[in-house]
Amino acid sequence: MPLDGLHQGRVLLLVAGSGRSVVSKSFQGMEMSERDGIFAGTDPFEIATRWLEDAKGSEPNDPNAIALATVDSEGLPNVRMVLLKEIERDAFVFYTNYESAKAAELDSAGKAAFVMHWKSLRRQIRVRGTITRETGPQADEYYASRSLKSRLGAWASKQSRPLSSRSALMAEVAKVTAKLGPNPPRPPFWGGYRLEPNEIEFWADGAFRLHDRFQWRRDQAGSGWQVQRLNP
Ligand SMILES: Cc1cc2nc3c(=O)[nH]c(=O)nc-3n(C[C@H](O)[C@H](O)[C@H](O)COP(=O)(O)O)c2cc1C
Repeated sequence: MPLDGLHQGRVLLLVAGSGRSVVSKSFQGMEMSERDGIFAGTDPFEIATRWLEDAKGSEPNDPNAIALATVDSEGLPNVRMVLLKEIERDAFVFYTNYESAKAAELDSAGKAAFVMHWKSLRRQIRVRGTITRETGPQADEYYASRSLKSRLGAWASKQSRPLSSRSALMAEVAKVTAKLGPNPPRPPFWGGYRLEPNEIEFWADGAFRLHDRFQWRRDQAGSGWQVQRLNP
């Protein structure tokens, strides 16, 4: 069940059987009353969902855009925007081409980070964690929910590899359209990635650059969260 930016009202995806971890009730070094208003809550995925809902009301485009950071085989960082499509009970999911530069970097490192920033809200969320592919029915369902042109585009694009001209790309689109017709299957080289965080930070702009920051950390997916306030 995909989240499609502004167009669908669904943000929090509760995946059957994905087992929510019990969120720690003991918040390290901080009274619960300290973390109120937009920061309140005992589940960072619910807070992220709430903030994304807020952003849908104020951002002109793509409130679910994230800057996804990876590292290449030389240790050189890389970053690009992708769309966050699902917030699950315990993970974040986005979709891409498995033969792209980012996919090579995601697969070899098994780790990634992303940041979402909403200028209209003056807020950001930072996330770091481990990466696995989502190639099952969930990816099929999301692929099927896209427009036909987007589905065919996924077949036509050899993402991240050199392209001689735009007309060569359009010729490839025409070729796959003729070959696959109105119901193309999900390409085997296209699907999801699931980021399971061990760190999530919520940041909101404060007067005179005295911003609020709350960092949620856990040892691994499934274990309890510890929350601490950080200096701006
Ligand atoms: C707002 C925005 C959203 C994007 N969403 C996606 C996306 O969901 N998936 C994707 O593969 N590329 C997306 N792109 C394109 C990527 O930024 C990037 O150009 C492409 O994935 C190739 O990156 P790579 O060569 O590092 O693999 C998006 C770009 C922008 C500006």
